[in-house]
Amino acid sequence: MCGIFAYYGQEKKSVSMVIEGLKKLEYRGYDSWGVAAANQDDFFIKKAVGKIGSYKYKESDFPESKMIMGHSRWATHGGVTEINAHPHSTENNEIVLIHNGIIDNYLDIKKNLVTKGHIFISETDTEVLAHLIQEYYEGDLAAAVQKSLKEIKGRYAILVMAKDNNKLIAARRGSPLIIGVNKKNNEYFIASDVPAFLQHTKSVIYLDDNQMAQIDKSGIIFKDLETDKQVEKRVIEVSWNNEEAEKGKHKHFMIKEILEQKNTLKKAIDQDDQQIIKIADEIKKAFGTYLVGCGTAGKVCLTGTYFFAEIAKKHINFEFGSEFPYFKDFIREGSLLIVVSQSGETADTLEAIEAAKSKGAKILAIVNVESSTMAREADHTLLLNAGPEKAVASTKATTAQLAILYLLSHACNGGITEGKQILVRTAAEINDMLNPRYEEHISKLAEKIKSVESMYIIGRGSNYPMALEAAIKLQEVSYIHAEGFAGGELKHGPIALITKGTPCIALVANDETKSDIISNATEIKSRGGYIIGIAPENNEVFDYWIKVPDVGTASPIVNIIPIQILAYQLAVLRQNNPDMPRNLAKSVTVK
Ligand code: M6R
Repeated sequence: MCGIFAYYGQEKKSVSMVIEGLKKLEYRGYDSWGVAAANQDDFFIKKAVGKIGSYKYKESDFPESKMIMGHSRWATHGGVTEINAHPHSTENNEIVLIHNGIIDNYLDIKKNLVTKGHIFISETDTEVLAHLIQEYYEGDLAAAVQKSLKEIKGRYAILVMAKDNNKLIAARRGSPLIIGVNKKNNEYFIASDVPAFLQHTKSVIYLDDNQMAQIDKSGIIFKDLETDKQVEKRVIEVSWNNEEAEKGKHKHFMIKEILEQKNTLKKAIDQDDQQIIKIADEIKKAFGTYLVGCGTAGKVCLTGTYFFAEIAKKHINFEFGSEFPYFKDFIREGSLLIVVSQSGETADTLEAIEAAKSKGAKILAIVNVESSTMAREADHTLLLNAGPEKAVASTKATTAQLAILYLLSHACNGGITEGKQILVRTAAEINDMLNPRYEEHISKLAEKIKSVESMYIIGRGSNYPMALEAAIKLQEVSYIHAEGFAGGELKHGPIALITKGTPCIALVANDETKSDIISNATEIKSRGGYIIGIAPENNEVFDYWIKVPDVGTASPIVNIIPIQILAYQLAVLRQNNPDMPRNLAKSVTVK
């Protein structure tokens, strides 16, 4: 949540360069934005409400500077206003600061600072930190930041500059901050995610929790905030390239990423078999295993519990990241937490890791972003290999996560080869399925239902969590009220919601659940519901049929794809921006 991008170099660059980098991070927060640049003896500061992506400017609007920072905001404390947008500064721009995260104890600190004469103009928690740093600032900015952070409770990634100081300080605890390095030019690019600076460098340093970086004209040094000792950091080359992080010929990232599923499944299962077998062994011998994720990743985890039950005959618990800490008493040494995440930075999942680690559990992270916090916190990591996912609605990462859990469940049963074969076939079927005719067939349905108020999705077995995931997908980009249910649960209450013409999607698999889910669809149809069947074969109960390949136990992977397309098309028809749905952000780094 919130995008940070900054430049520090020996040559002056236009502020517009940072604005362009920020645009690449806008999926992290897009309600307001701001930039600050050292400019002669002061700072040039510009803030605005709205999407930075739609901001048109002339290069001449901005100064050039050797030290520039920018922020795109996802509001937590304080409404969406120019004053609440970052950067925040103290009187006369003595201290200028941007922040991603939440300062939990900001009210107490504020009260104290007010008694010392500090005047606050915004409603944010961030402004409090700027004033606290000013309170301690006596010419050594790093020392003032370090002292201030000792008093802070909560999560943060911050960048700080001070007047007449020419140093840029970066620090993190719980929110990501990555430093792109161009050694040749002695340039640094600091961002909350790699795509912001991919066009400048692929050499990166990951700042860890409780670490601070100080950048000045002589280079960069790192310190541990707790021990006060200098630390050495490794420069890592990232594998993503700039093109992967661009929309290319597509109108939106969401459809680009949906169509990329022609290839991403293959890449997801391109794992080292020996590592998969080793992890499967850990799963088998673990005493208490939990699958943990949030939002879509949570639904994938729930699907995983069905894969393990069905294929490996192994019981695995599931909990959302935010709920997991309430179950930590069931974790002990020998337990295993499998976290699933696209970003590897979701705060609730990170808290679950913290809780599990404190009890001695081991962590397996299944993530897309290599070297993300989760990847680095884990004992074992499996990468999704899906390339950057920038649309807020997760699509290609979802199916890649499902594929890895599916593979692991086969490996737990000694059947890694069989699992891989099914997934290779599934990947080929998806490649055939994703063609313009398929999209057109779904678009006819989208046109038909674009004005409905509510819709429902039902599934059974491993397709029940996919019904929940389908609902999230439809909600977040189309804004249509959508709810997913276990097919058998409908008659216990929700069926009262069905009236004439209510669209209801049935996710059907060609397995033991088939006849029951068809019966559930028939019950809905008898009450006037309009049945959309997503199934390998047509059925007389369907009013509209969307064909999916018959891939046996891997059916959740293919059944969710037409819903992703439908959600995208509904968003476009309803004139929503599918890449940046209202109130949401791609990476949820606050609790
Ligand atoms: O990065 P993560 O996979 O940990 O993110 C978890 C959720 O925030 C995410 O899946 C969210 O629900 C998506 N917007 C859904 O499309």
